[in-house]
Amino acid sequence: MTSIKIFTATLAYSMLLTAACSNGESAAPRPAAAPVVTATKPAEATPPATETAADVFKNRCAPCHGANGLGDGPAAAALNPKPRNYADAAWQQSVTDEQLKKTILYGGAAVGKSAAMPSQPDLESRTAVLDGLIKLIRDFGTAK
Ligand code: HEC
Repeated sequence: MTSIKIFTATLAYSMLLTAACSNGESAAPRPAAAPVVTATKPAEATPPATETAADVFKNRCAPCHGANGLGDGPAAAALNPKPRNYADAAWQQSVTDEQLKKTILYGGAAVGKSAAMPSQPDLESRTAVLDGLIKLIRDFGTAK
């Protein structure tokens, strides 16, 4: 009789322990999951190496200067003064390539022109694209 009592007591005790243990486990705070870092950089920060001057003009300049450089892009209506019309022959002759580069790199405000003309500092190290833009602007000036 005594041994059965002890056995029962031991069984009850071990069940209690198991219950307490599993309860304790589920109540324990889970370790915080490691934060998932997903890099989302703005598109401008990492332009594809294959981006040409024509791509840059289409994406960054045409909205104001127009697809054909006539200063008639969709955003031009709201601007005063208007974006430069590259087909203006007198203007073409009045500016040097260096002046154009300075305006493109540092923006209109840096050369005493409209601050609406934005700076493109990233092109400073992308000389092929910058030279290509100058050529495009000059070509718009001679296109009939
Ligand atoms: C938000 C509109 C806007 C965008 C975008 C823009 N421009 Fe302009 N740009 C202007 C305005 C406005 C002027 C006229 C500034 C003035 O005459 O005071 C101008 C003037 C110029 C001029 C003439 C400067 C001069 O000496 O008369 C050049 C060259 C030029 N932009 C090149 C570019 C190029 C290249 C891009 C793209 C990389 C570009 N612009 C993007 C608005 C814009």
